[in-house]
Amino acid sequence: MARMAPTLAQLFALLKNDEPSDDSEIGILFGTSPEILQAESPAGANELSVREAEVAEWLLDLQYKDSSVSATENESSSPEKDSDPLNKEGSKAIEKSPDYIEIYPYLVKPSGSSKNASPKSEEKYLISEKGSLESKEKQKESEEQSLISISEGGLESKEEEESLEKAWDSSEKGEAPTPKPKKSVRMKCNENVSVSVSVSVSEIPSMSKLMTLKSCPSVGMSLESFDQIDSSPMFRSNGAGGNGESNAMVEEAWELLKKSYVYYKGKEVGTLAAMDPSAETLNYNQVFVRDFFPSGLACLMKDPPEPEIVKNFLLKTLHLQGWEKRIDNFTLGEGVMPASFKVLLDSHRLKETLIADFGGSAIGRVAPLDSGFWWIILLRSYSKCTRDYALVELPEVQRGMKLILNLCLSDGFDTFPTLLCADGCSMIDRRMGIYGYPIEIQALFYFALRCARQMLKPERGGKELIERIDKRITALSFHIQQYYWLDFTQLNKIYRYKTEEYSHTAVNKFNVIPESIPDWVFDFMPLRGGYLIGNVSPARMDFRWFLLGNCIAILSCLATGAQATAIMDLVEERWEDLVGEMPLKIVYPALEGHDWRTVTGFDPKNTRWSYHNGGSWPVLLWLLTAACIKTGRPQIAKRAIELVEQRLSKDGWPEYYDGKTGRYIGKQARKYQTWSISGYLIAKMMIENPSNLVMISLEEDKRIANPRLTRSASFPP
Ligand code: GLC
Repeated sequence: MARMAPTLAQLFALLKNDEPSDDSEIGILFGTSPEILQAESPAGANELSVREAEVAEWLLDLQYKDSSVSATENESSSPEKDSDPLNKEGSKAIEKSPDYIEIYPYLVKPSGSSKNASPKSEEKYLISEKGSLESKEKQKESEEQSLISISEGGLESKEEEESLEKAWDSSEKGEAPTPKPKKSVRMKCNENVSVSVSVSVSEIPSMSKLMTLKSCPSVGMSLESFDQIDSSPMFRSNGAGGNGESNAMVEEAWELLKKSYVYYKGKEVGTLAAMDPSAETLNYNQVFVRDFFPSGLACLMKDPPEPEIVKNFLLKTLHLQGWEKRIDNFTLGEGVMPASFKVLLDSHRLKETLIADFGGSAIGRVAPLDSGFWWIILLRSYSKCTRDYALVELPEVQRGMKLILNLCLSDGFDTFPTLLCADGCSMIDRRMGIYGYPIEIQALFYFALRCARQMLKPERGGKELIERIDKRITALSFHIQQYYWLDFTQLNKIYRYKTEEYSHTAVNKFNVIPESIPDWVFDFMPLRGGYLIGNVSPARMDFRWFLLGNCIAILSCLATGAQATAIMDLVEERWEDLVGEMPLKIVYPALEGHDWRTVTGFDPKNTRWSYHNGGSWPVLLWLLTAACIKTGRPQIAKRAIELVEQRLSKDGWPEYYDGKTGRYIGKQARKYQTWSISGYLIAKMMIENPSNLVMISLEEDKRIANPRLTRSASFPP
């Protein structure tokens, strides 16, 4: 007997798995009317009821499963580690040759992944640190020497290893997860939404009040306008819903993306950073974790989705996390995820080997703080798309998440909830004065915490971790919303700050000297709009604009609704500076002259308006597009996409552009840069089908919206 279709409200409550406790919130994906859902799916209401049951089960699982703690998983260090002969061997090697960085798994097994393989066949892996100085042949030689069969292993317990193998095997056997049937929705009249939520000039003086912990009107509004959304197969175009020229570009992009696939044991595990035959490869022939994120999203947003590569990537990088990471005599934290990895083929022995870089080979030797966050966020996107919750629930996936979080949530000397970082630890992976508390990392940290909050199970220490996460996200959002926010009113306040205020009554809490405000900020700051500044620490505010951090803050709801709207206003108001002729400036403005010399250390690759120092990066288009859709302003994204379509393909999909307006192909830019390609694809797919946004966007967290903050006496009324 046909089941009655549930009401819209019931559907939202059941299907939205963002926050189990928030049953009143609405997710964009499910913002389609029941009629539309039924029209799209012949199974109609029956199919919905199956989904209801699955989701309800998952929610129950998340909330109520017994929280018994397993001793084995709680132990973060491997019991095998000490007894592992490789460890001893490793330390000998270091004594012998201090020039070597050593990276090897706790348990190395021969390729073929036999569980019963003899440990005798284990081999060790060394990367020559002199590589860059050595001749190419020598480098090749050392790579060959370094070949090992790092195919499996690196896990704590046999069961974990076995289940990771099973997960890996199941995708080998083609047991691909069932992707969620896609609903195509299209936003109409969204600019109307923006009009109603924009902050008018007359409201600006009260902006500092508006900015505090308010709900996100933009999202609410766009969800309310769902009756204006239609659904039709013509929008299921994988990005090719435009004119002839842009369709050809989309087609080319899909072909190039496919060509960038990297295979390991016959399965796709990631995408190359770039495929430029005319330039030196350096490490662009590797799979970068952060670069794979947009590629993975493209595969998830595709209709029908191709989630296997994402699953394989998640499992392989998780496996690499299990390696012991050592630079000279120093062992890196267990949770550190690689910046990149590659597959080496030993043609003599017909053996494939994984090589990973955890920062030990990177310029500046900085560990990629963002990799673990991107990994967690992608894991959520994957489960949002496929509903393959079994992957998230694997003990080793849970453990991988916990290790990443433990690195960031451990007690220390911190007086702020923000995360202290070294320069160059994220997308900007060279010295650029972003050490301290850069907005990019804080926003990704917050995003990852909230994603992990949804996926962590209470067992095996998960409950305590969830409690720590809850506290941290409350404190972090308060700190960022209060101290990183800059608009006209706030700038005026800082400009008039008094200094040397001792004690808790201080207004100028970080003792920022007003003379340190750079001149350009006064011109740059529009009356309408605002943004989260680059960095805040004692006596230091980095007023530079960073696109990635601001967009991630919007997507994760780290920025309040009013702030999100104001950020989009700023992009509109300062279009020439932030978008110019080629989207999008990674940072504004560029460091020049004395600042460039002292802050970058005379970096010749980061001269003014080039590369990380004010260069324009097409990959950032997807972030702007997602933020635009979330704030109900898709027209802004469409303008940017049009600019990209005029040149990106013709120019050979460069990594970045140079110049104040982004007119010139970057001096050292790689062509056929994969994330320029996939970034364009996902921007197109999101504009054509905004329901894709649900994979990379969070709803407001009600627990944070009404935080129980202990306010100091100095807190402004
Ligand atoms: C550059 C970028 C970095 C990126 C890498 C690979 O080093 O700065 O963010 O991950 O290239 O594309």
